Amino acid sequence: MSPSSPAGSRPEVGVLLPAAGQGERAGAGELKQFRPIRGVPMLLRAIRPFAQHPLVRQIVIALPAAFASRPPDWLHDLMGQRLQVVAGGATRAESVALALDRLDPACRIVLVHDAARPFVSQDTIDAVIAAAETGRGAVAAVPVGDTLKRVEGGSDADRPTARPPDRPVGPVLETVDRRGLWRAQTPQGFPRAWLEEASARRGEAEDVTDDAQMMERLGRAVVVIPDHTTNIKVTTADDFILAEALASR
Ligand code: CTP
Ligand code: MG
Repeated sequence: MSPSSPAGSRPEVGVLLPAAGQGERAGAGELKQFRPIRGVPMLLRAIRPFAQHPLVRQIVIALPAAFASRPPDWLHDLMGQRLQVVAGGATRAESVALALDRLDPACRIVLVHDAARPFVSQDTIDAVIAAAETGRGAVAAVPVGDTLKRVEGGSDADRPTARPPDRPVGPVLETVDRRGLWRAQTPQGFPRAWLEEASARRGEAEDVTDDAQMMERLGRAVVVIPDHTTNIKVTTADDFILAEALASR
């Protein structure tokens, strides 16, 4: 911490970690967020960079209800005033709202980070906090590098398993212009009041898929923080292969 910006002069930060999903696309076995990556549970990897941050006052983790009442030992040992656990809800937005309810009122800036992103870097966290401190929403994101096709037959994004490659899907309807397109990641950071309003209004928009979207709709300034492509979201069994490789760097 530099002398010109002592922690006391900056708003305190709270972190919400939605970790209450069922990990269906990751397949059967141990719950995705508890599964070890190079020996360290994914959720623990996601917690650490925030737990070490000097501006973070509190972390609230939303877990599936059965685990909120009986957290794994490695998590139980860390719990206290600074790290709390709540039962999550049926949707990610619900889990974020329930975690926000528990957050210490002293936290004026709130970061939301998926437990399924175990490789977030310190510089991304710093930049998200710095932007949120200036009264804007901030979304870690990477520019789209692939060519995008809109395909008849809908999206595969939420399918439980990958589609077998021997069954073509289509036809292609168009190639989408990727200029200006970014893939939203987490963390996403906001002035607390914005997230409270967005959470209170979550019932108005079923199609909202990240925390910033409702704020964009409300006309609030949201900026993108260029993030590392290594901040992957672990979704499928294949992603665990990538995660093991990233953890070996
Ligand atoms: N999440 C949550 N509460 C829910 C659903 C999801 O807290 N009701 C969390 C997940 O635990 C994860 C993050 O939101 O950390 C992003 O969700 P995703 O990657 O989709 O994880 P899951 O919902 O667990 O996986 P799936 O969709 O394959 O079941
Ligand atoms: Mg999900």
